[in-house]
Amino acid sequence: MRTQYCGQVTESFIDQTVTVAGWVHRRRDHGGVIFIDLRDREGLVQIVVNPDTAEIFAKAERLRSECVLKVTGKVIPRFEGTVNPNMATGMIEIVAQDIEVLSMAEPIPFQLDEKNVSEEIRLKYRYLDLRREEMQNTMMLRYKVTRAMRRYLDDQNFMDIETPMLTKSTPEGARDYLVPSRTHLNKSFALPQSPQLFKQLLMMSGFDRYYQIVRCFRDEDLRADRQPEFTQLDIETSFMEEDEVMALMEGLTKNLFKEAIGVEFDYDFPRMPYSEAIKRYGIDRPDLRIDMELVDVADLLQNIDFKVFAAPAKDPKGRVAALRVPGGAKISRKEIDAYTKFVGIYGARGLAYIKVNDLSAGIEGLQSPIVKFFPDQVMEIMARVGAEDGDIVFFGADKAKIVNEALGALRVKVGEDLGLMNGEWKPVWVVDFPMFEEINDEGDLTAIHHPFSQPKATTEEILNHKNPEEMLSKAYDLVINGLEVGGGSVRIHNSEMQAAVFKMLGITEEEAQEKFGFLLDALKYGCPPHAGMAFGLDRLIMIFGNIDSIRDVIAFPKTQSAACLLTAAPGLVDNTQLADLGLKYRKPVLAKTS
Ligand code: AMO
Ligand code: AMP
Repeated sequence: MRTQYCGQVTESFIDQTVTVAGWVHRRRDHGGVIFIDLRDREGLVQIVVNPDTAEIFAKAERLRSECVLKVTGKVIPRFEGTVNPNMATGMIEIVAQDIEVLSMAEPIPFQLDEKNVSEEIRLKYRYLDLRREEMQNTMMLRYKVTRAMRRYLDDQNFMDIETPMLTKSTPEGARDYLVPSRTHLNKSFALPQSPQLFKQLLMMSGFDRYYQIVRCFRDEDLRADRQPEFTQLDIETSFMEEDEVMALMEGLTKNLFKEAIGVEFDYDFPRMPYSEAIKRYGIDRPDLRIDMELVDVADLLQNIDFKVFAAPAKDPKGRVAALRVPGGAKISRKEIDAYTKFVGIYGARGLAYIKVNDLSAGIEGLQSPIVKFFPDQVMEIMARVGAEDGDIVFFGADKAKIVNEALGALRVKVGEDLGLMNGEWKPVWVVDFPMFEEINDEGDLTAIHHPFSQPKATTEEILNHKNPEEMLSKAYDLVINGLEVGGGSVRIHNSEMQAAVFKMLGITEEEAQEKFGFLLDALKYGCPPHAGMAFGLDRLIMIFGNIDSIRDVIAFPKTQSAACLLTAAPGLVDNTQLADLGLKYRKPVLAKTS
């Protein structure tokens, strides 16, 4: 049908006759001459329609944006002054000799180059939205990244093996999407939160090196970097030590950076223990582009009269920390109020601050509603955080979890607001994760990574541990610019240890048998030591494309409320279909408005 892509008709085609096909991007009438920018995947080319070709001209006059055409014509150089050096085809134009309208287009709901089109409209007409250059580029980037993944892993002898979508619950910490079974009434499949257990079983089956670019499903609260269905590059290996697996994954990551955006790293990614990340950055996915850190000051404030600080300073589960913001004294009262509101999201009950106007004047040079409460300690605090004139120092005092989350998030927000980001790419391995985390005051535990990661302890030690929340695991996360792009671990490869971990998590033997019996059995019939990792493909594309919303890296994403606006899914189904599944239509309960 065509001889060339529109975007590829360059000067080398001058004097040749070509046939191109694509969408009318723009049509302009210029005193008797019509110009059409015709667009396809590879870009735009300018078509000229002269009035002396009356029949073609009449057709061109009726064209609208987004009509689909096939155009044959002669390539000529553009006149001086109309040359566009920013376009691959900017030196030429095609003089139309024949135009065939392949498809007319009704007026479209938004212009492709319109700014500020609402996301709702974009998602409803996603096939139009995807025509935009930006989306075309992102989808191409995504394709290039998956292609590079496959090439790299093929070269390393990995095999791509598929795993089931209709399966049993896999505990990755989110709620499952369920698929009720018609043939087994009252029973349901769960869509996989990840192929975790299957990939482990593949190691037990002897495949040694597995990968899959695979969809995962998690019914959880959505955020800018979370979708209910998202894609992992899922990997598992046998007979590799923790360091070997991490080196392989780092090699893969570096290769992707090079292939996707031409960035090369000439150093090993740094490693940071989880406890250090929390202490210094309040979060287990630190954005190391920002040079600010949380500094503990509780030891200085235990005996002051100001309860807000003294109480958490004395509480073993409390934390009092300071965050020095270089140049932050210029932050206004109003902005401080906004930051106070912001940390409130994380449960902080306030945001104390000290503006450092003139250190040489001692306490007189500090501006703050709180220095009066600890005049004897304040200069030592200033020294400890490294305060300089012109800074602001923020304080958080509460349960450690609240202070960490609040100041951790504030650090990133202020860093962005004041332009305190330096360096473009800051990858870091976060290692030495605790195996367990307490979920309530009764001491109930949950697995921080997942219950199949290997604790740094023997089975005996797991069962008799006095402070299980202090036990570490052989888990690792890869964090880039504050985004967790991947995580993995060395797995438990022995049935007794696996059973011990289930026991610590409060899973009874019967429950373990019912949910994971197949795994516990498989572990008994010869299981190689194995380890692996999964990368969030969507998040990698966000990083490579410098894109803020995960919805912009997925061709057909879901909204924040987990719906597809294009197809209007999820949708109502008929009663007979529900009845077949043993389900009944229920009238929606309206949410109470307060
Ligand atoms: P994890 O749960 O850490 O590990 O997931 C791996 C990576 O997947 C990405 N990710 C998501 N991306 C978009 N939307 C979501 N809702 C979402 N949830 C997770 C993140 C994350 O780092 N089976 C283990 C891996 C293993 O141990 O090998 C797992 O799934 O980038
Ligand atoms: P108040 O005595 O409640 O007026 O608080 C004095 C200052 O401490 C104000 O700037 C509050 O924002 C701040 N503040 C109150 N509670 C906390 C807290 N838990 N952590 C940090 N700052 C706080």
